[in-house]
Amino acid sequence: MARTALVTGGTRGIGAAISKALKEQGYQVAATYAGNDEKAKAFTDETGIQTYKWNVGNYEESKAGLEKVESELGPIDIVVANAGITRDAPFHKMKPEQWNEVIETNLTGVFNTIHPIWPGMRERGFGRIVVISSINGQKGQFAQVNYAATKAGDLGIVKSLAQEGASKGITANAVCPGYIATEMVMAVPEKVRDAIVGQIPTGRLGEPEEIARCVSFLVSDDAAFINGSTISANGGQFFV
Ligand SMILES: NC(=O)c1ccc[n+]([C@@H]2O[C@H](COP(=O)([O-])OP(=O)(O)OC[C@H]3O[C@@H](n4cnc5c(N)ncnc54)[C@H](OP(=O)(O)O)[C@@H]3O)[C@@H](O)[C@H]2O)c1
Repeated sequence: MARTALVTGGTRGIGAAISKALKEQGYQVAATYAGNDEKAKAFTDETGIQTYKWNVGNYEESKAGLEKVESELGPIDIVVANAGITRDAPFHKMKPEQWNEVIETNLTGVFNTIHPIWPGMRERGFGRIVVISSINGQKGQFAQVNYAATKAGDLGIVKSLAQEGASKGITANAVCPGYIATEMVMAVPEKVRDAIVGQIPTGRLGEPEEIARCVSFLVSDDAAFINGSTISANGGQFFV
């Protein structure tokens, strides 16, 4: 039977490309989203991939949602914690709400997504976890103290889970995208976007499919010996 893969925030942007790539690889895919029903419906109409709505920042909602996915599609073997948001502001103007919202979605959301299904992965002796972090978790970024903190935290999560899961056949890895042409990035003013592209040696934004291909590899059987790693896909913008 095909393995089941869950992609949080899997209906738009990078997550949508990941969901589609995993479906093409033969996995059963569940894509989650937060509230944009219209985009989710269009995504299902286009791809045939089932979507589920819950807020990754809420543990009980996540647990119930994951149980529903497992009851409909079978045990989740692969989880891609991709859902993420930005609430940018220079630190002196950052409001506690902006800090809390980003921590809740990007960091606690990763805990809430993995924790309920971790015991099942341990019992079955197999699991693949990929967290979508960011170049800005590696290097920091002006006006993103909140976002950079969560994305650096994501790297701590996978490095720790890698150690806990290794003996149970579970791997946990991160992908750190650079600037990718999704709505998140296309929403910034054109002048700022041009300045960003100017900092990328490859001379262009990345494509969501380029991140999806990293994920497809990390969740495959071929990647069994890659654990606790970070793949940086950023057009040469930053080296760790
Ligand atoms: N784009 C980039 O250049 C870039 C670079 C580095 C890292 N990343 C990371 O890559 C990931 C995807 O980014 P993207 O640009 O593809 O984002 P996006 O286009 O804005 O899509 C975000 C997805 O996450 C979902 N989501 C947001 N908050 C959620 C919540 N609380 N609960 C459940 N789902 C939630 C959204 O659902 P709705 O459709 O319902 O809103 C949507 O499906 C993020 O973690 C981001 O930080 C992106």
